Formats: sequence, structure tokens, C-alpha cells
Amino acid sequence: MSEQYRYILNNNDLPRQWYNINADSPVPPNPVLNPQTLENVTPEFLSVLFPMELIMQEVSTDRYIDIPEEVADIYKLYRPTPLIRARRLEKALGTPAHIYYKNEGVSPAGSHKPNTAIPQAFFNKVEGTKALTTETGAGQWGSALALACNFFDIEVEVYMVKVSYNQKPYRRIMMETYGAQVFASPTDKTSFGKSVLADYPDSPGSLGVAISEAVEVAATSGGAKKYSLGSVLNHVLMHQSVIGQEAIKQMDMADEYPDVVIGCVGGGSNFAGIAYPFLRENLLNGQKTRFVAVEPTATPTLTKGKFAFDYGDTARMAPIVKMFTLGHKFVPPPIHAGGLRYHGMAPSISALHEAGYIDAVAVPQVATFEAAHLFARQEGIIPAPETAHAIRITIDEALDAKEKGEKRVILFNLSGHGNFDLTAYQSYLSNALQDYAYPEEEIAKAMEQLPDIKLTTENT
Ligand SMILES: Cc1ncc(COP(=O)(O)O)c(C=O)c1O
Repeated sequence: MSEQYRYILNNNDLPRQWYNINADSPVPPNPVLNPQTLENVTPEFLSVLFPMELIMQEVSTDRYIDIPEEVADIYKLYRPTPLIRARRLEKALGTPAHIYYKNEGVSPAGSHKPNTAIPQAFFNKVEGTKALTTETGAGQWGSALALACNFFDIEVEVYMVKVSYNQKPYRRIMMETYGAQVFASPTDKTSFGKSVLADYPDSPGSLGVAISEAVEVAATSGGAKKYSLGSVLNHVLMHQSVIGQEAIKQMDMADEYPDVVIGCVGGGSNFAGIAYPFLRENLLNGQKTRFVAVEPTATPTLTKGKFAFDYGDTARMAPIVKMFTLGHKFVPPPIHAGGLRYHGMAPSISALHEAGYIDAVAVPQVATFEAAHLFARQEGIIPAPETAHAIRITIDEALDAKEKGEKRVILFNLSGHGNFDLTAYQSYLSNALQDYAYPEEEIAKAMEQLPDIKLTTENT
């Protein structure tokens, strides 16, 4: 029998429901606090930014939530995505490990981000939202939301971190092609952007600052605009569960089960998307899969950050959550993996990491591009710089299996392609790429500004 490479499901195999880890998580959720009062947030506070359906999903403990037909119909443009066995990479490494990857790069926007952009635009449309604001790091999230808003006829303003805006003009043009307005953040359009520019005229921006700008525009629009976030929140992670649910079926087609599941983490959504359905199998059905979240050494949130209450954005306008954080004032070095330059981490991933259910590792920039380069040469796909972090650890796992003579089944999430990230590859190929050491002093300074939260009976 010839060797199988691709495991393909058809439109009818599309999951009909999203999976919510909060139904099964062994760690109880921490309260979400209002950034002004430090009391529990109320639905009224959140409703300035989000439609009520997404707020209800955010706090839901239902195990499954139905995917509306209108959302499923758009998912079908690119879902189910293929699961690929990376046989050529296995051979190049000479490893007995079996390496599989779920290719989310086949979506029209080029990453996993439309999995949540489409339902977020849909639920906004249903509740009458005419315009959305958002931030984007690498440009992948902005492209995804621009795509989704175009389908549902909603206007969208994207605040793009300045360093990415300059590194990735084609991402901006893609967003504009779908009809979005794109601004380099910090901008002089918001009072927070102006204050950052006054202090640091050359600020490269950060996701924390861009979030603050997008939140400010929505919060001061008198209800005309709402805000949309591409990671971190429970409902975003839940929408991404289509990835892992499909992967379970596809691993079954391959007659294998992963010993280890790997994903890169910025705010945590693609990692949770592939990992949580398998984590459910550990929690409910006795499986023993290991989960590894991979982050850059330049932004070592899980590996060097503190598990504490912190603001989701730099201007302290977004809710306070308990998460691993480097401090909301931290401005990460300008690595090419723009989507991983966030100071915090999804609360559920943070709590599961703290409790020992999820491992975390940080890798430096040059080593990630070495891995991405090898992968591109063997498998043909040029991965996004964010995804390259997952590939680095996948290769390290496969080499470890080789050293130990183990047949290990490794599954990683190919969260996006890097066809718009060629400037980064050019730097790598011309040996101009540099590693950034862990910016210890910057982080220590940012940590001094964590909010002082004492939980009382009122806010637990
Ligand atoms: C391709 C890709 N992978 C990963 C990420 C990180 O986000 P998350 O941790 O939410 O998956 C991003 C964010 O922009 C991205 O564009």
C-alpha cells in the first residue's frame, strides 16, 4: 500500500458545535474585574464592547455550543482543514517519530484566525453592530476580521502595531482589499495613542497599546462601534476548538493518537484550539497526551512571567484577568513573530499551566527560523514566524525521540503560512536576524505596575 500523507475530511464532517474547556477544566475560573472599580465586571460593562451573545459565551460553562448555520456555511470555504503527515521532514531528521500537522494556513486569510473572526462578525451582525474596531500584530488577525466583516457587511478599523505595519505592507493591502481601514499604532487618532507618542515618538508599538487604541475608539463611539479581540478570551479559544475536534477524527483515520500536541502561543488561541479537545480526552477518557505551548524568549510570558491579576491592555481600559503576564506596560522587542508579542496569556491556559496540565517552553528567534527553513525545504509550506516556534519544538521532540529510539506521535498546529513574512525570511537568509535576550530589567520595571488586587467576598 502506498504511503498516506494527507487526511482529508469533507464539508459534512465539519464540527457542528464548539467545545468549551470550562465545562471540564479541573481548575476553577478566576473572577474578571472591572479596570476602574476592581469589582467583578458586569455584562453591562462588557456590552459597551461586545455583543451579548459573545458575553454569554465568555462566561458559559456549557460543554458544547452550537455553531450557527450561517457561520458553518462560511467555514465550509476552507474547513475542514487538512491533517498532513510530515513524512519528508521525518526522513530528513532520520527520526522514528511520526509527525503530523494541522494546516490552518489554508484559510483565505492564511491562518486560524478566521475561525473566530467569522462567528464574531456574525454575532455582531445579528445584534445590529455596524462597525468594529480591533488591533492586529502580525496582520493575520486584522486580515481575518476584515474578511469576516466583508462577508457580513460590517465596517472595520484595524490598529496595526507600527513595527508590523512597516514590516508587512502586503498584509495592510490585503486588509484594505477586504474593505478595512488600517492605522499604524500608536496613532494620533486616540488620546492614548497621542500620550504614547508624546513619551516615545519612535515607539514601535505593541499589542497592548494597539488594543487600548481600538478599545478607546469603540468605548467612546456612543454605541456606534464595538470591539473585537482575536485571542485570549474564552469565547475566542472556544471558536478555535474546531481545529482539535477535526484533528481527533483525522488522527483516527491515520489510526494513531498523539503522545504530544504542540502549538505556539501569543494570547493562546491556536494552541487551545488544537489542544483543548485532546485535553478533554485526557480529563474524561484517560488519554495521556502531553501539551507543549511554545513562546519566544523575547516575550517569555509563561516561562518567566508572573501568574497574577493584570490589565489586558496598556492603557488599563480592558478588564483585569488572572493570567501569566510580563506586565501591561511591557513593550516587547521587535521580533518578526508579531502575533506573539503580547504581555499576557489566556486565563484558561495560564491556570492550566500553573496547575501542571500544560508545559511551556521559550525559544529564540534564529533557532525558530532554522526550523522553519528546514520545514519549508522538506514540506514546501513557508510557515508564519509565529508557527515556526511550534515547528522548532516539534523538531526537537522528533530528535529526542530519535536519540531515545522511541516511536513518538507528534501533532502540531500549523497556525498560518508566512507568504507575507518574506522580509523576515530575507533577514534570516542573509544572516541579519538576531536573537533578543530576555529583557529582564524592562520586565521587572513593568511588573512593578501590576494592580494590587485583594480578593474579597465581593469579587470572588
Ligand atoms: C499565524 C499565527 N499564529 C499564531 C498567532 C498567535 O496567536 P494565538 O496565540 O492567539 O494563536 C498569531 C497571531 O497573530 C498568528 O498570526
